[in-house]
Amino acid sequence: MKNLSWVLVVILSIVVAIFSYKFTVGSVAPSDDGRQSVVLTKDERNAILLEMRVWLESAQGVLAAAVKDDMVEAAKIARVSGMAAEAATPGSLFRKIPLEMKKLGFATRDYFDQIAVLAETGKGSKAVIAKLSESMNNCIACHAVYRLPEEAPAK
Ligand code: HEC
Repeated sequence: MKNLSWVLVVILSIVVAIFSYKFTVGSVAPSDDGRQSVVLTKDERNAILLEMRVWLESAQGVLAAAVKDDMVEAAKIARVSGMAAEAATPGSLFRKIPLEMKKLGFATRDYFDQIAVLAETGKGSKAVIAKLSESMNNCIACHAVYRLPEEAPAK
């Protein structure tokens, strides 16, 4: 009996180690353009790319609202890409996306929330635009390192 518990402890430790490794490294492969390919299913990839297009829309929308000094609109648009929207992200992605990429992704959502707070608390359009500009360094940083290859078409 005692031996059996040890076997179980060892097996569980291995399972935990594998999960932690996968969680940190994610599902990646080298890419021929020097970046890392994050290998996802078609649906997961589509979900992220949709998220990306929403981020682009939010960035443009915040700028357009800030130029008009419309802080209510700026806050509303920024919240669309804030942390609350993370609920729409498929859970399976947490395992497949490398830790560094997850951090950049969450930080980007957090930036959109910060932009909303600046707008809501009357900090003005210049502060909003400055934060948006800062946040977009995350877009650049992540795109420089990761790509999402499309599945090879079935032959
Ligand atoms: C956590 C990483 C990460 C961050 C942060 C990030 N992106 Fe992306 N984005 C990606 C990856 C990976 C792709 C796929 C690129 C590829 O395969 O070449 C992508 C693709 C896109 C696309 C193409 C979408 C499509 O339908 O093909 C747009 C637009 C985009 N990102 C906008 C943004 C904007 C705007 C920001 C910042 C507000 C941003 N992204 C931040 C990882 C990120």
